[in-house]
Amino acid sequence: MESSDSNNLIYLDNAATSWPKPDNVYKFMVDFYRECGVNPGRSGFDKAIEAGNILEDLRLRLTKFFGGDEHLPQQLCFGYNATDALNLLIQGSLISGDHVITTNVEHNSVIRPINHLVRDGGVEATYVPFDKNGFVDPDDIKRAFRKNTKLVVVNHGSNVLGTIQPVKEIGQYCREAGIRFIVDVSQTGGMIPINMREANIDALAFTGHKSLMGSTGIGGVCVREGVEIRHTRSGGTGVRSAFPYHLEEYPYRLEYGTPNMVGIASLWAGLDWIEEQGGVTAIHAQEMKLVTKLVNGFKNIDGVTIYCCDSMENHLATVLINVDGLEAGDVGIMLDVDFDIATRTGLHCAPLVHKQLGLVEIHGGVRFAVGPFNTEAHIDKSIEAVTEIAERARSMKKISAAK
Ligand code: ALA
Repeated sequence: MESSDSNNLIYLDNAATSWPKPDNVYKFMVDFYRECGVNPGRSGFDKAIEAGNILEDLRLRLTKFFGGDEHLPQQLCFGYNATDALNLLIQGSLISGDHVITTNVEHNSVIRPINHLVRDGGVEATYVPFDKNGFVDPDDIKRAFRKNTKLVVVNHGSNVLGTIQPVKEIGQYCREAGIRFIVDVSQTGGMIPINMREANIDALAFTGHKSLMGSTGIGGVCVREGVEIRHTRSGGTGVRSAFPYHLEEYPYRLEYGTPNMVGIASLWAGLDWIEEQGGVTAIHAQEMKLVTKLVNGFKNIDGVTIYCCDSMENHLATVLINVDGLEAGDVGIMLDVDFDIATRTGLHCAPLVHKQLGLVEIHGGVRFAVGPFNTEAHIDKSIEAVTEIAERARSMKKISAAK
């Protein structure tokens, strides 16, 4: 796979955002904005209709991509990113007296909206831990069901551990109990196949800038038929302007103000690119080959701890490590400054993962997240770099022991 944006940097922060983007994405964003960068759905002139058409066509493309209800593409609503989308879905699903179940795998985009509702909104929450391999047991979710449980929210793919959660089984339990099931597909959308109908997912939140290969600032929700998410914001919709309140009908219900049309264009081209590569399964297979090599390389380095990678089944191309005797942040700085390797260190906006692994006190871990433009050479250099850093840590230990 090729993209024209390359330099000496070995970019392994693809779980934060994929970079570089495919060439066709850059080109289509610029061409579209230059040729058709007007406000869609607000006016009747030809270009406004043309801009509106790509927006509406993308709703259907993404609804199909996520296995949503194809006869209701208007229930695919665009926002800024997955955090934005999850806020809309969570706040629009719960009221005082409700109970929500979520997991320790979650990102702050789920934890914080829920915690605010618990602290300020009379909502109760249960956080279900993951097992030693980083997977949530669907039976643990089921055991947490209460009479007042209204919602289960699960992160499909952990942005820290890379583990893929068994959403189909969880969805089945939720459906049987009549509990709404929301899935955060930030890390998996564009990386592994997702079928909302098969997994009984009532609503999902996606972001465009990760494996969907779009730009930052675009994301959204896909909501199944009959799922009523209350609108918690209000504003311009471009239609029925005399009506004094926000509109109830989708997509207006969950869309507010002028959409990010450059982001829409980027997603359009990102989907084209995914199709050209042979689809998500082909892209995932290539990334897993590289990350498996990386993990096997790390396994041979004395003093490196790897988390939840005993098996790479049901895994994304993301791996978390620590080097004995060093703070994660220091390892990240060495990788960056001495080896030109970009990773993300710390708690990765997912503090409960680190808390459960006992890593908060040592300030988290070092995350390597492989993307479609990484190569075998990048993996070899990363293994060499961590080998050298681990050697440095051992030497430092010997020096301080000798003092
Ligand atoms: N959630 C993104 C990450 O995992 C930003 O780095």
